[in-house]
Amino acid sequence: MREAISVIGLGYIGLPLAMCLCEQGHRVIGIDVDPVKLRDLSAGRTQVMESYEGEPLASILQRHLASGRFVPTGDWAMAAEASSHIITVGIPVHENGVPDPLPLLAAIRSLGAVLRQGDLVLVRSTLVPGMMEQDIIPLLAETSRMVPGTDFAVAYAAERVAEGRAMYEFRTLDVVVGGLTPACGERAKALLSTLTDGQVHLTDLRTAQLTKVIENVQRDVNIALAHQIKEIAEHHGVDVYELIRLANTHPRVRLLEPGLGVGGYCIPNAYAYIAASLPKTRPVPLLTLARRINEEAPIRAAAQLERQLAALGKRLRESTVAILGLGMKDGSNDTDSAPRRSLVNWKSE
Ligand SMILES: NC(=O)c1ccc[n+]([C@@H]2O[C@H](COP(=O)([O-])OP(=O)(O)OC[C@H]3O[C@@H](n4cnc5c(N)ncnc54)[C@H](O)[C@@H]3O)[C@@H](O)[C@H]2O)c1
Repeated sequence: MREAISVIGLGYIGLPLAMCLCEQGHRVIGIDVDPVKLRDLSAGRTQVMESYEGEPLASILQRHLASGRFVPTGDWAMAAEASSHIITVGIPVHENGVPDPLPLLAAIRSLGAVLRQGDLVLVRSTLVPGMMEQDIIPLLAETSRMVPGTDFAVAYAAERVAEGRAMYEFRTLDVVVGGLTPACGERAKALLSTLTDGQVHLTDLRTAQLTKVIENVQRDVNIALAHQIKEIAEHHGVDVYELIRLANTHPRVRLLEPGLGVGGYCIPNAYAYIAASLPKTRPVPLLTLARRINEEAPIRAAAQLERQLAALGKRLRESTVAILGLGMKDGSNDTDSAPRRSLVNWKSE
């Protein structure tokens, strides 16, 4: 069995990642602060809906618990059994749009205290670009009392997988890695190359952090465009899906389809992370507008429903509405990060 790896944060990303590493023959110490999650995982239970080669995640989890290859724990001292540490604790964004780095920084602080000479710290969480240099690396230096880049390696490689396909995509997607030093980047590349058959692209820390949020915000803008096209199509009495299908027959056009909004951790938060990384004197009006259009998508859908019911002589507030699918997207049971201004909370005028 190869050396142990710690995976810090056992959520939608961390747990399937830990299982992929176990499948590769690594011993994995999985660390989380949620006692309920740890109790469930230790009993072989998980709500995360993933599978690999037809085997559900819970069954993979039970196999690796039984073999001792996976150890879920809240005990940070156990992270010292690992020489590589992969962090997947996220940065939630509050209702006011402000990212909250405290859970991630708490994890960094705890890790720093158990870090050893020669270890690798690989951050996979999506960050406010610049956090590696401004917050994470200084905090690791302070809590470990060692010199990052000399005594231990630090690198950043954002996670790109999509929920529902995570275990397949960990094995196949390209990864962009930024090291604190070229040697740190190479060390992270060596680890990631045991996980993915895709290419591992080496760059600097800041470019690696920005690449992830730019990928996500590109999707936010493209989805906003789809929502705007829906309005245009409606005005012209044209079927928006047919319109988009036909436009996409052009070789250089690739429109997305409109939906009920944008859910998940990644796409809605990208704007907040980018905005938090920029001074107020450098606004990003295109991104701001796209975010607003997407945030308001559920409200527009509810208003449309109200109009259509009215045309049938019915009132929305007296109707029972079935919403088919509460997950943040198809194939996901993640309802926490479904479009924020939900239809359920919508109040008609
Ligand atoms: N979910 C996705 O589809 C997806 C895709 C790509 C990237 N990402 C990114 O991956 C990261 C993780 O996302 P997620 O969906 O797995 O989040 P999640 O909320 O499901 O999991 C985070 C886990 O971290 C744990 N945690 C919180 N504070 C901790 C601490 N101090 N120490 C140890 N554990 C702690 C939580 O209990 C939770 O289990 C985020 O940065 C997200 O943006 C997510």
